[in-house]
Amino acid sequence: MDKEVFNKQLEEETLWIEEKIKGFLPKGIQHQKTISDAMEYSLMAGGKRLRPMIMWETYKMAGGRDERIVLPFMAAIEMVHTYSLVHDDLPAMDNDEYRRGRKTTHIVYGEDMGILAGDALLNYAFETALQGFEDGRSLVLKSRALKILADKAGIYGMLGGQVVDVEKTGKPLSQEELLFIYSLKTGALLEAAFMTGAVLAGADDGTVKELGKAGHYTGMAFQIQDDILDITSTVKELGKPVHSDEKNEKSTYVSLYGMDKAVQAVKDYSEKALGILYAMPVQNLYLNTLVKMLIKRKK
Ligand code: IPE
Ligand code: IPE
Ligand code: MG
Ligand code: MG
Ligand code: MG
Repeated sequence: MDKEVFNKQLEEETLWIEEKIKGFLPKGIQHQKTISDAMEYSLMAGGKRLRPMIMWETYKMAGGRDERIVLPFMAAIEMVHTYSLVHDDLPAMDNDEYRRGRKTTHIVYGEDMGILAGDALLNYAFETALQGFEDGRSLVLKSRALKILADKAGIYGMLGGQVVDVEKTGKPLSQEELLFIYSLKTGALLEAAFMTGAVLAGADDGTVKELGKAGHYTGMAFQIQDDILDITSTVKELGKPVHSDEKNEKSTYVSLYGMDKAVQAVKDYSEKALGILYAMPVQNLYLNTLVKMLIKRKK
């Protein structure tokens, strides 16, 4: 896809997704207003919106036409992802003060509200996805998507990866353990994004499985690039602190195998993801370009 055409669509789609997510924020708040403020603060900061974007693209690729079916899930996955970031930044975890170009939620609202805002986003993600069930349409597809989202966020998914990441901080890590952590803490939610879009459009099991693999490879590339940027980028460009991994004595792909191997691994994993997308019966050129672009991403 032409670079200019891609960039224009990326910009437009990011804004569209943001506006839609905003529409799902809680309403009718009374004395608990602090929590809805903290949720909005973390959610509406400048994220890339990659997971809802991928979900939207696989939904269209698999023939989905009705945005009302997929939008609550797009908002939900971004809420789950944002909760994972809010908690990841807490003093007991990575202890970071910047996220998405602003002070982290616990710095602004206090550690207590930071914890509760994360909890709130996680729970509200499922309230939001379930709102989508109220029209009574496509309930089987929505149930399947909900199960994937729940599984990939939980102990067999993102949360499980974070547990091992935290437990292994400052300790030696085998390659198998490192890949396990990346596959879960980052890969799982990307798998969910690729899979749920297709599921909601009624794709067959084989297609969903293949897209899950594309999500896994994209996630591996994405996390290794995240490790690289933690060393090579700046707070200004990244919107979050650099050298966070060094500060926390985290073993990363870069610290274990060196920068050159890490750069190569991002390319290799991305190629694997693209290979799966190229083999799909329907081609989504925007999605292909998005995955390709992640190799060179600067933030
Ligand atoms: C950051 O994810 C955490 C990782 C999984 C590496 P993103 O880089 O997608 O963060 P946002 O959503 O753009 O802020
Ligand atoms: C965390 O990985 C991935 C999550 C599930 C939040 P990192 O700790 O490397 O993510 P950043 O660099 O803080 O975004
Ligand atoms: Mg972390
Ligand atoms: Mg972190
Ligand atoms: Mg990182």
